[in-house]
Amino acid sequence: RATALDVRQLGGRIGAEVTGVRLGGALSAETVAQVRAALLTHKVLFFRDQDHVDDEDQIGFAERFGPLTTAHPTVNTGSARVLRVTANKGMAANAWHTDVTFVDRVPALSVLRAVTLPPYGGTTVWANTVTAYDALPAPLQALVDGLWAVHTNSYDYAQQDEEHDQPDANYSRDDFVSQLFETQHPVVRVHPETGERSLVLGHFVSRFLGLNSSESTALFQLLQNRVTKLENTVRWSWRPGDVAMWDNRATQHYAVADFDHHPREMRRITVAGDVPVSLDG
Ligand code: SIN
Repeated sequence: RATALDVRQLGGRIGAEVTGVRLGGALSAETVAQVRAALLTHKVLFFRDQDHVDDEDQIGFAERFGPLTTAHPTVNTGSARVLRVTANKGMAANAWHTDVTFVDRVPALSVLRAVTLPPYGGTTVWANTVTAYDALPAPLQALVDGLWAVHTNSYDYAQQDEEHDQPDANYSRDDFVSQLFETQHPVVRVHPETGERSLVLGHFVSRFLGLNSSESTALFQLLQNRVTKLENTVRWSWRPGDVAMWDNRATQHYAVADFDHHPREMRRITVAGDVPVSLDG
């Protein structure tokens, strides 16, 4: 039986809240198709009041959108499919990124569930990397259209703020770089489902091919400023039982680390994706 989904757009460029769906259990193929369509349009979806959802429900929901990937290529937080996201040593997600771009096959979708929330702060912000590309002036589009970037999990951790480390951290920077990954992706990818052009950037980028490090830094900053312009973002204030789902091929996100030393734990499930395809195919 199909559920009547209500999709309420949250901003001009990205984000929608979905009501009328209970995650977990048997969702009809039609409901899944409606959620997928809303996701492709709005890039990140939010579902309130899903307190009943546990890890298995979250896995079951994510699997309706494609085969899952390992929770994380290097970090094991106790489950092959569920990543426990906490703020800990050099690992707080308070840097703009697209999940796991340092591997060849960048995950397609992520589903994130709030498990433990701080009494204040701890919001997450998403940016639309399709509208960021579309809004670039033509000369900048021409510059990035044929450009490639190197992505690695060994990025500059010294840039990160460690003041929010949690004493019960379940993984560390050493775990994160226990195996080094480096790959190259086109800066502009063609989205495999929508055909849209999207910028593939975020903090795993170490440099652009053919540019020296200072040129790479300057261009990276210019492009990231476009992606993260506030009008291009949506910010979510988590409540217990909230679930978010985003298209990792069309977004970056940033977990705001403004909750002092209070615990915050989220659980993330990741759906497998493709090798990003450049405009040249
Ligand atoms: C993530 O970067 O996937 C986690 C975001 C969050 O903890 O809000």
